[in-house]
Order: sequence, then C-alpha cells, then structure tokens
Amino acid sequence: MGIPAKRIKCEALTQPIHERTLAYMSNSEPQNSQRRPRYSGKHPRNFQEKYKEHAPDRYPDDVAKVLASGKTPAGTHRSIMVAEVLEVLAPQPGQVAVDCTLGYGGHAESLLQRLLPGGKLIGLDVDPLELPKTEERLRKLGFPDDALIVRRMNYAGIKKIAREVSPDGVDLILADLGVSSMQIDNPQRGFSFKFDGPLDMRMNPLHGIPASALLSKLTPAELARLLEDNADEVYSQSVAKFMLAAHAQTPLTSTRQLLELLKSAKFPLAFGDTLEDMIRRVFQALRIAVNDEFGALDSFLYSLPVALKPGGRVAILTFHSGEDRRVKKAFKAGAAAGVYSEVAAEVIRPSRQEQAANPRSACAKLRYAVRATD
Ligand SMILES: C[S@@+](CC[C@H](N)C(=O)[O-])C[C@H]1O[C@@H](n2cnc3c(N)ncnc32)[C@H](O)[C@@H]1O
Repeated sequence: MGIPAKRIKCEALTQPIHERTLAYMSNSEPQNSQRRPRYSGKHPRNFQEKYKEHAPDRYPDDVAKVLASGKTPAGTHRSIMVAEVLEVLAPQPGQVAVDCTLGYGGHAESLLQRLLPGGKLIGLDVDPLELPKTEERLRKLGFPDDALIVRRMNYAGIKKIAREVSPDGVDLILADLGVSSMQIDNPQRGFSFKFDGPLDMRMNPLHGIPASALLSKLTPAELARLLEDNADEVYSQSVAKFMLAAHAQTPLTSTRQLLELLKSAKFPLAFGDTLEDMIRRVFQALRIAVNDEFGALDSFLYSLPVALKPGGRVAILTFHSGEDRRVKKAFKAGAAAGVYSEVAAEVIRPSRQEQAANPRSACAKLRYAVRATD
C-alpha cells in the first residue's frame, strides 16, 4: 500500500529546515521513480533538463560533445590551469596536501595521483550541496580510503586543520578561489544573472543571509562602498542609490528582477565598458559580500606561513583584481620578512589554448610561494 499523499507532505514539512533548503537547491539526477524533465526541441536548454550532463559516467559521449563545443557540462566544473598548478606545487609521493577549495575535485584528483603512494590529500569546501557528490566521485576512483580526508569547512581555518593532520605543517596548499561552475549554473543558487532564480548567492546556504536580505540591511553608502571595494565600480554611489530605491519599493528577491532593474538604469558607462560589465560587477560585489570572501581570504593568507611546513609550497588561483591584489601583497610582504624563500615573480596566466577551450579560465591568475626553511 502506498503512503497517502497528505502524509508525505507532512513528513516533508517536518524535515529540519536545512534539509529542505538543501533538497530544494540540490539538482541531483532524478531517482528511478521520478520523471526526467521533458524539454521541447532537440536540445535541453535549462539546467534541470540537462540530465545527461549531470550524469557524465552514464552519458560520456554526450558530455564529450558539450566539452568539445567549449561549454562546461551542467553539474560539472572544468579545473583551470591544472598543468601549471602541478608544476608550481611539484607534488611528490608521500607528501600531505590541502586542497582548500575542493569544488568538483579536478585539481584534487590530479594531486592525489602524484601524492601516492604514501601521501594524502585533505579536501575542504563550504558547500554542503556539492561536497558530498564530489567526495563520492573521488572515492569511486579507487584511491586508498585514508588517502583522502574531506571536511566541510571554511579555508579561513587552514591553520587548525593543517596542524591537526600534520603537526609540523603540510607540504602543499592549493586554493582555487571563487565559485564553481556547478554553483554558477544552478539557477536555484542565485549566482548568475543569466538564469532566473532566488537572489541568494550563498556558497553555504545553511550559513549567513541571502543577497536579497543583505540589500534590506544596507544603506546606500554601505552598498556603494561594497560595489567599489568588491568590484571597482566607478559609479558606485549612483548604482547603490538606484538599487536601494527600487528595493524599497519592491524587494529584489530574484536574479531576474535585479537584472531587469540594472538593464533599465541610465548610468553613463566608462569608455569601453558595457552594460553587461556593470551588471557582472554588481553580481560579483554582492556575492563577495554575502560570502565574506575577502574576510576568508585575508585570514587564510595570514595563517598560511604557520599551516605550511618549512619548504612547503602554496598555489592560489584568483579571478579578479580584488583577490589578486591581496595575494600579491601578502606574498610580497612574506618574502620581505623572510617567511617565503620564493614567490612568483610574475603572475602566471592560462595558455591561449585553454582560454579558447574554456572561456571561464580567461581571467584566471596563478601565484605561488615557498615557505622558507628556518
Ligand atoms: C573554483 S571552485 C574550485 C574548483 C576545483 N579546484 C576543481 O578542480 O573542481 C571554488 C570552490 O571553493 C569553494 N569555496 C569558496 N570559498 C571558500 C571558503 N572560504 N572555504 C572553503 N571553500 C570555499 C566553493 O564552494 C567552490 O566549491
């Protein structure tokens, strides 16, 4: 006998609130009993409809076609500058590494292959939706169980976890900053103006407040500051006033609403700047604020020398000037103080081929540092 519909509904409502939030945002493949989303035409357009892309193990040929077209298959992430990261970190068998931003696990997989036999990798991420999927995927690759430790935590706490697994500090640390393609492309996460969804933007939806709620708390001066600091917005004051006036009339609760509002704005644009650039900056500034990304990065950079063992190496991939400035400054100060024996003289950029094959890599910048041996 089936369970009456009413009871199913009640059970769903008695689930803890965070489980319901995660279930709503998650986009796991439909179970056998669920129907696949139907789509009109030859190709699926929406994230939810791309069930083949969400299951690369089962549909390798379809996924290969998407990759060949320069796109990132839905529900996956293409790791950036893998060869360059491996070159600067130079992983060796037996070493201990921390991947602070596990994401889809692409960098982690390449590192683990080189740390074995005898080494281990600790993978961190704040995202409770993607982390279990990534752990499952990595475990299926057959690495020894104890070679991979996965923790849901903020990399701001790198010092504690590094010292916990290796009292003298770890050999290698990688941080690939920002958001993953799985997060950007899932409309329910609210990161992208390209899809309609709730104006949320939290990498960990169980923590903090969504972007829409943040807007309700900010004064125009605070929002202007945030647009300037997080995205170098030149017209920060006008944009902030305009956004908050509209938000006071009708709360901005969806990405589409914010997009339409910004499209209707009549701000003068700087030479060479486009409306889309301005919209991108607003979304970026809100995302950084919602997740306190600069706060986490500052704590991380401050703790790095203690988390690394003497001779240990760190590589950081950044995606915009606010991040790169912080990394550059911290590495330069560390080198001047003798904490680092070597730092990247120049920023390392993705090859032209990589930029063409994966446009999301285009703004990546890689820097590295080596902890001095005392
Ligand atoms: C660009 S993706 C990493 C992709 C990964 N390197 C790969 O090869 O698949 C960035 C990841 O970092 C996570 N993240 C961002 N800020 C974080 C923080 N402060 N602490 C831990 N994880 C964070 C995001 O949730 C996201 O999954």
